[in-house]
Amino acid sequence: MDTVLSGIRSTGNLHLGNYLGAVRNFVRMQEGNNCYFFIADYHALTTHPATEEMHRNVRQVLVEYLASGIDPEKSTVYIQSDVPEICEMYLLLNMNAYLGELCRTSSFKEKARKQPENVNAGLLTYPVLMAADILMHHADKVPVGKDQEQHLEMTRKFARRFNTMFNVEYFKEPQAYNFGGELIKIPGLDGSGKMGKSEGNGIFLADDEKVIRKKVMKAVTDSGPTEPNSPMPEPIQNLFTIMKAVSTPDTVAYFTEKYNTCEIRYGDMKKQLAEDIVAIIKPISERIKEIDADNEFLKRTVMRGAEKARENAIKTVREMREIMGFKRLF
Ligand code: TYM
Repeated sequence: MDTVLSGIRSTGNLHLGNYLGAVRNFVRMQEGNNCYFFIADYHALTTHPATEEMHRNVRQVLVEYLASGIDPEKSTVYIQSDVPEICEMYLLLNMNAYLGELCRTSSFKEKARKQPENVNAGLLTYPVLMAADILMHHADKVPVGKDQEQHLEMTRKFARRFNTMFNVEYFKEPQAYNFGGELIKIPGLDGSGKMGKSEGNGIFLADDEKVIRKKVMKAVTDSGPTEPNSPMPEPIQNLFTIMKAVSTPDTVAYFTEKYNTCEIRYGDMKKQLAEDIVAIIKPISERIKEIDADNEFLKRTVMRGAEKARENAIKTVREMREIMGFKRLF
């Protein structure tokens, strides 16, 4: 039995990339594992969200995750800021995280480029807070998308460093996890980059089928291949990447063959892609409405989750303090 942990920042509605990169795998792992799922609302602070937006987003992410199949009877579902011990653990781990390695993190460099007016210390130490989330529960597996791979590497480094520094075998080294093997990156529909919450290139779990079809039909393509077996330009590769994640292997093989023989009609491909996405999202978007209306269920879920998560948190922080030499003077 493994301990599995998954998290998401509460910065907006969940999109297909979140679901396929992290949630779907987590949902499959709920049976027979010790599973924790949490909403990373402290992490969301790096972009200075408005107070009301912050509150709304936490609830929205909670509802959408539960609608995606996370079962609070099987998994511990909690909100990061309901577990204040995370802050102490973050502080303790920060002492062994170095400026050089934090500055070299890809996500930091990207964010510093995108928001030069707000390069705060929280952004710099984002991977340390993430390591605290993971190490707090001694997680073995962390289902994440490709963009989090480096953060998992850093978590392992911080764990090893702590063990070496204090000459203990305390933290284990968690692995980023995907059932298919390789971690995935779902691209956006705009022909480049990854699907994101704020990039305007996403399909959201709350989208209804009409909206999904419209978005997919508008995805960027080109005028089609003119020579057999020609390399695929990025926007076309992206459509195939999404298709591989949502459609059957036969469907992918069919359109690949059509591309290679220059017979592909992108309209047909997009229609099929839209159908396969709708098949995944429709049941989720229907459940979103039901769960959103059930305040009692949401309240019960987060209260029980916080209590269970805190049990681990209190124990881990107490043990870390002991290892590090904190002793009561009197
Ligand atoms: P966040 O909120 O950016 O994304 C949540 C999860 O969704 C995955 N993801 C994607 N996967 C594939 N294709 C995409 N286009 C795509 N976009 C997002 C992410 O890889 C992630 O798994 N730092 C984390 C939140 C976090 C966390 C943790 C995760 C905080 N502490 C501890 C795991 C363990 C984040 O910002 O994810």
